[in-house]
Amino acid sequence: MTSIKVSYSHSEFHAEAAQLAAKLGLDVVMLGLVQSDTTVDQDYHLNIGPEGLSLLPVPRAIHGPIMCQFDSGANSHRRKYGGGNGQAIAKAVGLSGKFYPNVLDLTAGLGSDGFVLAGLGCRVKLLERNAVVFSLLQDGLRRAQHVALDDSELGEVISRMALIESDAQDFLAALTEDQCEDVIYLDPMFPERKKRAKVKKEMQAFQRIVGADQDAADLLPLALERARYRVVVKRSAGADFLAGKQPSYSLEGKSTRFDIFALRKLPS
Ligand SMILES: C[S@@+](CC[C@H](N)C(=O)[O-])C[C@H]1O[C@@H](n2cnc3c(N)ncnc32)[C@H](O)[C@@H]1O
Repeated sequence: MTSIKVSYSHSEFHAEAAQLAAKLGLDVVMLGLVQSDTTVDQDYHLNIGPEGLSLLPVPRAIHGPIMCQFDSGANSHRRKYGGGNGQAIAKAVGLSGKFYPNVLDLTAGLGSDGFVLAGLGCRVKLLERNAVVFSLLQDGLRRAQHVALDDSELGEVISRMALIESDAQDFLAALTEDQCEDVIYLDPMFPERKKRAKVKKEMQAFQRIVGADQDAADLLPLALERARYRVVVKRSAGADFLAGKQPSYSLEGKSTRFDIFALRKLPS
């Protein structure tokens, strides 16, 4: 069984850690006072430290910290050098120099796809239901907002992202017809792929925390009712269609595929 505790690395973070632990219904511990190596099951610490909020494995050596980082690392590199509107995800949502769809991302995760779309000019609402993942994403956006005080380009991108803690089914069911979004985007956890090379340890950890998103297929019919122009489903290459439903067309990449359910002609 996976167990998570909120931890803090210095007494100055105690109050913040206690607040987060109370919200998530988890225990709080001070890092360093924990006898971690005796654990039989895989444990995690949701740790508050000077770098921000991160998910740390116990024992620590299993893999690196999992955290949400928009102002450096892979997300930042992709924003600057990722290929702009030529990227498959941009084509999938119908982004062009003339049309910047509003996107409702039903499965935000750590926000990488949402950040790419916001970086290309889309307004993106990001829904996340897992409280741990939501906390990591919220913290990543908070830190990015801070960095953006000296980086107006990053600030513009972040200002196009709105984070909402909600189950996507509940959120969609509560939308009225005039609250339709241009594009609804879905990237549920990938189904297990038997032949696949061992997934990275960080990804395995994410899968343990989030689970298999078994209800993902239920989102598709609701999404199709609520999207104005299209629904885009991200899948791993070679995976079955979500809910067994044939899309209008697909864009295939090396490791991922975008299935596009086109509902109306895009504005030109
Ligand atoms: C594969 S991850 C998404 C990764 C994301 N596209 C990115 O670029 O970082 C799937 C995420 O969707 C969330 N999720 C799955 N079903 C959801 C639902 N019905 N409502 C809200 N969040 C959901 C999971 O908790 C998980 O964090």
